[in-house]
Amino acid sequence: MSFEKIGIIGAGQMGNGIAQVCAVAGLAVTMVDVSAAAVDRGIATLSGSLDRLVKKDKLTAADKAAAVARVKGSTDYAALQGLDLVIEAATENLELKLRILKQVSELAGDATVIATNTSSISITQLAAVVRAPERFIGLHFFNPVPMMALLEVIRGLQTSDSTQAEAIAFAHAIGKTPIAVKNSPGFAVNRILCPMINEAVFVLQEGLATAEDIDTGMKLGCNQPIGPLALADLIGLDTLLAVMQVFCEGFNDPKYRPAPLLKEMVAAGRLGRKSGRGFYTYG
Ligand SMILES: NC(=O)c1ccc[n+]([C@@H]2O[C@H](COP(=O)([O-])OP(=O)(O)OC[C@H]3O[C@@H](n4cnc5c(N)ncnc54)[C@H](O)[C@@H]3O)[C@@H](O)[C@H]2O)c1
Repeated sequence: MSFEKIGIIGAGQMGNGIAQVCAVAGLAVTMVDVSAAAVDRGIATLSGSLDRLVKKDKLTAADKAAAVARVKGSTDYAALQGLDLVIEAATENLELKLRILKQVSELAGDATVIATNTSSISITQLAAVVRAPERFIGLHFFNPVPMMALLEVIRGLQTSDSTQAEAIAFAHAIGKTPIAVKNSPGFAVNRILCPMINEAVFVLQEGLATAEDIDTGMKLGCNQPIGPLALADLIGLDTLLAVMQVFCEGFNDPKYRPAPLLKEMVAAGRLGRKSGRGFYTYG
């Protein structure tokens, strides 16, 4: 079975990006958020993003109009009934996600696959509250969704082989490259990426090199498009610290301990780009 009718919960940064790629791929999208203003903002953002593609000649104006017409917004969860796939992309909060997923699974049809775009919460734990946990899966998109080719497909303990196969087919259908991963803190990509960035903070803290030289080293020596400290500023140092704490507790292994300098920076309110100062200063 291929998914044709997609529901998205949350019209924020990730939700509207997911809606955009699904709509461009020809799928019918229903995007739900808590307020009409949030839904309208989500649709305006995806429309603006498609306008930029039209300007760059990557999409025709007619295809853009057709894609936008495929996206319906709503503030009513009832609009999610009878869809093939519902992707939860609401705020990263365990209690909120448990409540949303329980509610959606009660009204979705038996055939509906329910997915979450969480970046840190256990897929197995979330699956435990839905009616058909074998039809629940993690679909971890990367930011910005229209630009990033990867889709991490994460199976919880309860996820069935057929649900995983359908999710992988969906990734291909929307032009993403899937990788199959088992549930574990940070899944695969952030599990590798975040400790690497944390190690760069240790290198800085130990005075082995300046921030600029650490970033230049990793760009020129490892072909990374952006240095780890500049990437930390982009992600947000508070987010990075939270992820390292999840690893530390989740694996009960001190190898994931956050660098003391990272904690100091967060305590000082130096959160990176969003606060104007992190390892670098922003205008
Ligand atoms: N931002 C990233 O780089 C990134 C990357 C991968 C995954 N994620 C994950 O994607 C999810 C969304 O993150 P985001 O960056 O888009 O956040 P965001 O704050 O931009 O958007 C979240 C949206 O969820 C809505 N929402 C809150 N409660 C809701 C409810 N009960 N029903 C419907 N909508 C509700 C909010 O109004 C908001 O519009 C999180 O789980 C996050 O961990 C984020």
